[in-house]
Amino acid sequence: MKNKIQIFNDEKSLNGMRNACKLAKSVLDYIDEYVKEGVTTLELNDLCHKFIIDNHAIPAPLNYNGFPKSICTSVNDVICHGIPSNYVLKSGDIINIDVTVILDGWYGDTSRMYKVGKCTKLAENLIEVTKRALYVGIDAVKPYGYFGDIGRAIQQYIDTTGYSIVRDYGGHGIGNYFHGEPFVAHYDTKLRGEQILPGMFFTIEPMINVGKFKTRLLKDEWTVVTIDKSLSAQFEHTLAVTENGIEILTE
Ligand code: MF3
Ligand code: CO
Ligand code: CO
Repeated sequence: MKNKIQIFNDEKSLNGMRNACKLAKSVLDYIDEYVKEGVTTLELNDLCHKFIIDNHAIPAPLNYNGFPKSICTSVNDVICHGIPSNYVLKSGDIINIDVTVILDGWYGDTSRMYKVGKCTKLAENLIEVTKRALYVGIDAVKPYGYFGDIGRAIQQYIDTTGYSIVRDYGGHGIGNYFHGEPFVAHYDTKLRGEQILPGMFFTIEPMINVGKFKTRLLKDEWTVVTIDKSLSAQFEHTLAVTENGIEILTE
């Protein structure tokens, strides 16, 4: 079922996804004021967890393939899947908070970067470039186009910056499940890929590194870091494809 791209061609599904994605976005808005020096990533987790539960939803990461917390918090050289902990945020840190909620059976998945105190120009530039990379990818999505268009467009842009694009992780189909086909590459695979059709829901979530693109998995079996300890950033939206274009459901 999830090894085939799913098509949801009914208004009920679209509305379910709209509501879940809207809530996921509101979690990222809600947590913004708490992301500052001195807070632990576990405290951010607990605040998001309560907000999600209070809104009649479920945090999808919790117990997902054994993931122990409700959100992912990825600081500095952590690329993705950082586990909330007693780590205390300090001035100069950059952190990605990735939220996925399940509302009424539908999954909304989105992440963004937050700056803690005063960051370097390099960190600020990486964040701006990564956000732009997400939108370059989104602009490449056309009904009846191909998934390969997305990574090609992002790579064309990132090649002008000197940064690198993570290859080991990508976007994914989503809907009434967390992760399904297709794997959405954020780099140029030189392949056309599957056709993008109305009724598809998927994420685009480029991870951009200042240094090398290669990844390393920590012994906790979740935390993904850059091999050269360079900074990494990520932004994510969930999209719906319609006959006329796309909807950015988490915007
Ligand atoms: N939200 C992540 C994504 O964008 C997945 C996190 S899975 C977890 O696909 F188990 F690490 F939470
Ligand atoms: Co995702
Ligand atoms: Co996510």
